Amino acid sequence: MTNLIKQILDDLLSPLLADFKECPIWIKWAAIVLTCAATIPLSLIFRARTTYSEKPRIHFIQNMDNQPKYVSQEANALFLDGRVMRPMVEGTVSQSQMTGDTHTFMGLVDGAWADTYPASVTVNKDFVLRGQGRFNIYCSPCHGKGGFGDGVVHHRAQRLVETGVNGTTWVAPKNLHEEAVAEQPKGQVFNTITNGIRTMGAYGSQITVEDRWAIVAYIEALQISQNADPTDVEGSDTLPRVDASNEGSNK
Ligand code: HEC
Repeated sequence: MTNLIKQILDDLLSPLLADFKECPIWIKWAAIVLTCAATIPLSLIFRARTTYSEKPRIHFIQNMDNQPKYVSQEANALFLDGRVMRPMVEGTVSQSQMTGDTHTFMGLVDGAWADTYPASVTVNKDFVLRGQGRFNIYCSPCHGKGGFGDGVVHHRAQRLVETGVNGTTWVAPKNLHEEAVAEQPKGQVFNTITNGIRTMGAYGSQITVEDRWAIVAYIEALQISQNADPTDVEGSDTLPRVDASNEGSNK
């Protein structure tokens, strides 16, 4: 077997070698130099892949990744004072400094959480329905449509935690019917929506002030729905009653 391989190699290589031996000396040298040079690009690629560089990568397609621009605190000769950051126009009030109607904008009355709706909103059926729409869009993915903290995002995250995917960690959304939340003044819930709380993000930039109050009203409706007295419903005494002691049995 080895002999056979040797013979085949000899048959293949010897004419080549014979040819090579007859070549002029400069071709031999050129072949050796070229063979050595051929390893240079490979070594460079290997080096580039295994070492760190202070210089940015070569960036062929620039699109708009790099373009002249000013960043904070830079100098800019265009302005007389040479600063790129322009001072605020006199009299400017930023949204976070809104101090006038603290009830509407911050949920605060005399520095404490308001327990009433601000005069700027009218709480009626349409308002609560608006709140329902906004709640279902912005809050129900986590808190669930009923506010029990059992939204689809919660279920999905819980699954990932249980199966240990990518080290997921998850703080369960609060059940809005639990006492600690249900007892909160309206202004505090408004503030939670506006600024977020602990692991929950802020929705102030996405939901208008009025809609945030509408959501507060809808959460109140959800809470009442879990703890309502029959007398809350007009004419309820004329409705047929289920005997509470029979509840849960179909006999
Ligand atoms: C991405 C998921 C998510 C969304 C969307 C979300 N929340 Fe939450 N919410 C949470 C989590 C998580 C907590 C508990 C935070 C904690 O304890 O760290 C929480 C807590 C709360 C609390 C209790 C705060 C307290 O004082 O303990 C309220 C009230 C609340 N959310 C209301 C809302 C409302 C209203 C919306 C819609 C505008 C909303 N949340 C949208 C995840 C979410």
